[in-house]
Amino acid sequence: MKKILVTGGCGYIGAHTIADLIENGFEVISVDNNSRSHIKILEGVQKITGKKIKNYIVDLCILDDTHAIFQENPDITGIIHFAAYKAVGESVKKPLLYFNNNLNSLINILKCAKNFNVPHFVFSSSCTVYGNPEEVPVTENTALKPAESPYGVTKQMGEQIIMETIKSNTLNAILLRYFNPVGAHISNHIGEIPFGKPANLVPAITQTAIGKLPAMQVFGTDYPTKDGSCVRDYIHVSDIAHAHTLALNFLIDKKNDSNCKIFNLGTGNGYTVLEVIKSFEKISNTKLNYTLGARRPGDVVAIYANNDKAKIKLGWVPQYNLDDMMKTAWDWEQKIEGKTFTL
Ligand code: WQD
Repeated sequence: MKKILVTGGCGYIGAHTIADLIENGFEVISVDNNSRSHIKILEGVQKITGKKIKNYIVDLCILDDTHAIFQENPDITGIIHFAAYKAVGESVKKPLLYFNNNLNSLINILKCAKNFNVPHFVFSSSCTVYGNPEEVPVTENTALKPAESPYGVTKQMGEQIIMETIKSNTLNAILLRYFNPVGAHISNHIGEIPFGKPANLVPAITQTAIGKLPAMQVFGTDYPTKDGSCVRDYIHVSDIAHAHTLALNFLIDKKNDSNCKIFNLGTGNGYTVLEVIKSFEKISNTKLNYTLGARRPGDVVAIYANNDKAKIKLGWVPQYNLDDMMKTAWDWEQKIEGKTFTL
């Protein structure tokens, strides 16, 4: 079996991806220092796959400790790099924390990939690299505009670092630009484990519905959209996860003509905040307690994907619609009963 190192394997998308990789015949090891995640999520992965996942509790900003993982696992065929801080609001308050963590961890992983001749590399990027696009849907060739946060800048810089690095070595890389990952695994054994008050829309909805939050706000209803609220491309986390398996096989099967390919991972459908709330109320059969509030600084008005390239090149077909996303998110919230974790 081909061995894959998943960095950030105890995270939301990391854990879902490990489950998909194993179900598709890969052997997986994880590295995660659990600074923003819980090792317990791997018990959920084990319930889904029947496999116990080894996790190295290592800070990837420490090169020697990162190097030791590769020394112990010289048969690593590919790396999927998720490990990064991703709270947009926190990145605005603490930019240097984000530049140090997100970039040094990437640089160390790339150094080890080069030193140990690991051939395949998949990078967790984000639609945030597009900034505030002039037109939608965005394709992979849409010009990148200034990112709206230091978090987004670390994703733009991360892409550049990878594209420059692979010019001088045999590493093959794919950059996956996620739109808005939401929902939970259909088994309800894994899902998003929130830390503190949720910044993202769907956890805010489900925590309000379960009573963990007294109410939630719609950030702006005066945008030039169909109902005045912002438009996003919500994509089920399991669809995102499967795209990573397809991307790895694309590299392993040497279909990557240029040695770096970029793919948008979105459904291609844009939904407004109010439409998401309506979908949630329908599937949960509850009335959500929300108010219409002011715009949130840094929000882009509308962004959703043209996903033709991933469909054609990777054979990727998203399986979950908006109602499915809301149903799995709600099932998971009810399972964890609104528990949140402190950092
Ligand atoms: C979505 C919409 C909010 C909360 C972020 C990152 C992006 C990616 C996905 C990692 C916006 C509105 C939200 C609330 C609201 N992450 N909203 N009330 O900002 O599109 O993207 O997560 O790659 O990089 O930037 O996601 O879920 O925070 O917001 O009205 O309580 O929901 O204003 O319009 P966002 P989000």
